[in-house]
Amino acid sequence: MTERIVVTGAAGFIGSHLCERLIAAGHEVVGFDNFDPFYPRAVKEANLAALRRGARFRFVEGNVARDPLPLDGAAAIIHLAARPGVRPSLEDPAGYCDANVTGTARVFDQARRAGIGRVVFGSSSSVYGTGTPAPFAEDAVAASPISPYAATKRAGELLAHVFAHLYGTRIACLRFFTVYGPRQRPDLAIHRMTALARRGEPVRMFGDGSSERDYTYITDCVDGIVAALAWTAAGGGESRAFNIGGGARVRLDRLIALIGRTLGRPLTLEHHADQPGDVPLTAADLRRSGAELGYRPTVGIDEGLRRFVAWYEEAHGRQS
Ligand SMILES: NC(=O)c1ccc[n+]([C@@H]2O[C@H](COP(=O)([O-])OP(=O)(O)OC[C@H]3O[C@@H](n4cnc5c(N)ncnc54)[C@H](O)[C@@H]3O)[C@@H](O)[C@H]2O)c1
Repeated sequence: MTERIVVTGAAGFIGSHLCERLIAAGHEVVGFDNFDPFYPRAVKEANLAALRRGARFRFVEGNVARDPLPLDGAAAIIHLAARPGVRPSLEDPAGYCDANVTGTARVFDQARRAGIGRVVFGSSSSVYGTGTPAPFAEDAVAASPISPYAATKRAGELLAHVFAHLYGTRIACLRFFTVYGPRQRPDLAIHRMTALARRGEPVRMFGDGSSERDYTYITDCVDGIVAALAWTAAGGGESRAFNIGGGARVRLDRLIALIGRTLGRPLTLEHHADQPGDVPLTAADLRRSGAELGYRPTVGIDEGLRRFVAWYEEAHGRQS
């Protein structure tokens, strides 16, 4: 069945890939984004370029914390708009609350006023903080975030519970684990390190290299969002958290070595202390998302990095 879906954060990394997938599946998509200056508007415009050429995509510029969403005729909302990034959130906690908490409350509220009962919310693995045993399971308490960003995402999930309880909205809260791939946000480690290494500049390594992340390739992440959208169609007010991870832990020192191998040049490292707000480990327990969404990641880190570097070289020109 084809539907009209509103996607907030459509000009971003995950949002633009998602919109392309929804269009390819025959849906009509209304993208909404305010081109937040966290990274350049030109990059986000480039993310949207192919979408804007299609007849079933419409774009509206606006701020989720201020402006009305274009909800006419919409069957569901996928809410990905947010100020992202753990470390920068330490510098502007109130600004993160505005975009991520006020913005999310406004999205849920407008959905219910418009009679839209289906929402997918882009949450984060950072909600697990440091107190959760690995692998992180969705029924863990998740009450000890260690960055303002993580707290805003947990607040969004709590608001999802409120709206499911009061108004019967069905909300899937997807806890994304470090997503990477073509068009990845330039601030994220894989993209940043690739850019520096190709310029022959040293790469900063925070900590001793033993921190671990569960990396999710973008096509797997989009599979998870699409599966969650189908979950919201089942009816019945409920908010439910689902992990969307890659299913493997990769140590930072191994990631750095893999990037070097994929680029064909070892990275020069600059050693720095651990960053406040960063968790030492993320690891997704995928049993719930597997059983209830049919979610199964298929792209491992070696293949994912090859695809990322191939895209990077295409976008920035190959270097000898
Ligand atoms: N990429 C990851 O590894 C990752 C991990 C966990 C969670 N997430 C979450 O997934 C979502 C998408 O992340 P991404 O990596 O694609 O980031 P992104 O920055 O590329 O995309 C987010 C988009 O939201 C827009 N936006 C920001 N504030 C807005 C506002 N007030 N109103 C309207 N639009 C606004 C930005 O302009 C941007 O285009 C975010 O909610 C993020 O917190 C991402």
